[in-house]
Amino acid sequence: MPDDLQIFDLVLFGGTGDLVTRKLLPALYHAYSHQTINQNGRFFVIGRREMSKEEYCTFAYDKAIKAKENIDLEKWNKFCNQIHYYKMDANNEADYNGLGKLLNQEITNIFYLSTDPGLFKPICQNLAKAKLNTAHSRIVLEKPLGHNLATSNDINDFVAKFFTEQQIYRIDHYLGKESVQNLMAIRFGNTLFEALWRRQWISSIQITIAESLGVGSRGEFYDTTGALRDMLQNHLLQLLCIVAMEPPFSLDADTIRNEKLKVLQSLKPFTEETVLSNVIRGQYKAGTVNNEEVAGYADEENIPEDSKTETYVALKAEIQNWRWAGVPFYLRTGKRLNKQMAEIVIQFKDIPCKIFPLNANNFANRLIIKLQPDETVQLYFLAKQPGDTNDLRPVYLDLDFHKMFTTRRTDGYERLLLDIIRGKLTLFVRRDEQEAAWKWVEPILDTWKRLNFTPKVYTAGSWGPSLASALLARDGESWHEELI
Ligand code: BG6
Repeated sequence: MPDDLQIFDLVLFGGTGDLVTRKLLPALYHAYSHQTINQNGRFFVIGRREMSKEEYCTFAYDKAIKAKENIDLEKWNKFCNQIHYYKMDANNEADYNGLGKLLNQEITNIFYLSTDPGLFKPICQNLAKAKLNTAHSRIVLEKPLGHNLATSNDINDFVAKFFTEQQIYRIDHYLGKESVQNLMAIRFGNTLFEALWRRQWISSIQITIAESLGVGSRGEFYDTTGALRDMLQNHLLQLLCIVAMEPPFSLDADTIRNEKLKVLQSLKPFTEETVLSNVIRGQYKAGTVNNEEVAGYADEENIPEDSKTETYVALKAEIQNWRWAGVPFYLRTGKRLNKQMAEIVIQFKDIPCKIFPLNANNFANRLIIKLQPDETVQLYFLAKQPGDTNDLRPVYLDLDFHKMFTTRRTDGYERLLLDIIRGKLTLFVRRDEQEAAWKWVEPILDTWKRLNFTPKVYTAGSWGPSLASALLARDGESWHEELI
């Protein structure tokens, strides 16, 4: 083990929940097994049930760990030596004194709030009462952080009473993804694209996060949230920031976050009229996904039959600055779509005068950055078809990062947990970024609410409501999958 690895005590609130068992523990296990974290670091898992440490480890193993492919039982057992289970009620002030006695307060203490956001305030207050918010402590806040600007401000104001901004790690797990960090490398590690990365050469940009899964067992949460709050306000806008930001002068956390903030602040505000014309709200009905018949949203567990919650949103955004004025950014996300994937499509402008015969399918000048499940960069252009005509056809250069780099790739949460332990804030959302994002989406939420707006229905397994295609067609554009 490298001898400069920071020693820490990490407290996981919500220890029996899905996020801890399915994502955080596996990520910590991998970091521990690959010795990228200090082997003496300890994990205090908090839950309300009476359990011994051994019972907790068995519970976590049965619930989520054993289903994972790359977890070795022997190494898991070794990792479990570092786990401590502590039964407490997050609302009970007295329980925090007991927690404090277990922690070594001379080293980095991390409090990861993987709980219902309703508990964020009491947990912070009780940590402070037990004097656990020391100069060595860090607090990690999982999304959803608020339901709108006011509720997000309310939580942030409260947390700020006890922790400085430098101690607060707001998670957007997309920022932990290798492919998302690679976006920065592609843009700012090369000169190739920079000269073209602007309104003079780009006609439009599409950013898609599509899911084939439905809401599953999260119906109760999802129905009060919807796709705009769940995915667009955070993940999609963070991707937009990385695609559109100005080159930062260093990788320092605030330098990057300042540039991302400027993008969010330059987004053209929505009015009721532009919400109606430029935002498509959808909800899936029964259909077929991956050859399997699936139920419609209204028939999912814990969803009211007459729910108007959106499971899909597509919109056209504009950035009002010198680099991007006039370039439409089309963002979309949805559940139960045709396939699981995330990608960014940069459409460069058409040639100024055509000398070759072209047909409608001859799309070119397109850079496609696939973020998941494949991680590829594809550059489409036109080439002459062999033969005695001047016929062109689209061809592409295809770079596959999985083939290019065979070293182990960390999952988003593993990278984020490492950075929390190392005290690096670059991949976390600063308060002002979060506020700017809420401020921008709020007119959409308000308009939908005011008009009691009914989502357009789309069939599970499709690419969303047909109006989403019309949104682009109006500008002479098409979603990428409509062309290939
Ligand atoms: C979460 C959302 O933030 O992101 C989920 O709450 C969504 O609804 C998930 O399924 C998607 O993340 P990923 O990493 O699977 O693309």
